[in-house]
Amino acid sequence: MTSVPNAISANPSGTLARTDLPLPGRREGKIRDIYSLPAEAPTAPRLLIVATDRISAFDVVLPTPIPGKGQLLTEISVRWFSFIRGLNVIADHLVSTDPIDLPGIGIKHRSSIEGRVMICRAAEVIPIEFVIRGYLAGSGWIEYQEHGSICGVRLPDGLRCGDKLPEPIFTPTTKASSGHDEAIDYERACTVAGRAVIDRLQNVALRIYCAAAEYALSRRVILADTKFEFGYAVDEHNHISDELILIDEVLTPDSSRYWPVERYQPGREQDNFDKQYVRNHLLGLVEAGQWDKTPPGPDLPPQVVADTVSRYVEVRDRLFGRDSSRAGS
Ligand SMILES: Nc1ncnc2c1ncn2[C@@H]1O[C@H](COP(=O)(O)OP(=O)(O)O)[C@@H](O)[C@H]1O
Ligand SMILES: [Mg+2]
Repeated sequence: MTSVPNAISANPSGTLARTDLPLPGRREGKIRDIYSLPAEAPTAPRLLIVATDRISAFDVVLPTPIPGKGQLLTEISVRWFSFIRGLNVIADHLVSTDPIDLPGIGIKHRSSIEGRVMICRAAEVIPIEFVIRGYLAGSGWIEYQEHGSICGVRLPDGLRCGDKLPEPIFTPTTKASSGHDEAIDYERACTVAGRAVIDRLQNVALRIYCAAAEYALSRRVILADTKFEFGYAVDEHNHISDELILIDEVLTPDSSRYWPVERYQPGREQDNFDKQYVRNHLLGLVEAGQWDKTPPGPDLPPQVVADTVSRYVEVRDRLFGRDSSRAGS
């Protein structure tokens, strides 16, 4: 395995809501813009993934970007990829974070995407989100109150919102190409991706979660839950291989719930470093009848933007700040 390149540190001065690079195959996720990089044999095809400053909530991309968020997400992901490589449990898609490796991209475009790019091995995405929960929160808490279980995993009675689970659990969801992801049980995940694959990736996801949660706790952060994506690497002949790799972003505040340990108090909703803060602001609008969770989303007020930036910065600093014994190195 090659070593993970250092992320360029976040420079939250510029805001980037959308990219338009002179590269083929542009597609747009809610947060990231993705391009194909021409494959040159004997190299397998690569993707360019650019993290913009877009933010989504309830699967709606909001009109107001969060300045510097894309750089923070990239930096946090890259640090975690490095940590995960040290675990030796699975290969991943990250090849480079250096825009210099992009053919045909001039200086102007290059500087606009600095610190936001991951050059990755292309993969056939497995259409399942591998959600791992160590604590009871969010949709898991709602499902538990109704059924006493999450995604078919039976839990002890009497748990409170925010309680630590007896052990981390795998609660898969579908990865819907449009609309909302749907919670499914283990058997349904096996029907989608095959039992041997789900068995293996469940183990991989649990191992990464446990190691990452332990590291985060040593940095005064609770990793309450997170979501991984996996895929089959595309090989140098442009064929889908049988090599399973970890893809997408990893363990970012967009894909995870992070809580400051000193304010952790089960029995209520936790203070957090993730986008729950934005969700709560929006839920206030929903309750006031000013928004119905459908596009277009409402503008965010400057204070909410500023508070959101500082949450992303704080979790980055706690996890990987200067005083840290650097993860994975
Ligand atoms: N190595 C890869 N190969 C192919 N697709 C990938 C790879 N890594 C991530 N992706 C996909 O790229 C997209 C990333 O953009 P994002 O804004 O997160 O999209 P989404 O709205 O689907 O969450 C996701 O759909 C993810 O599944
Ligand atoms: Mg995503």
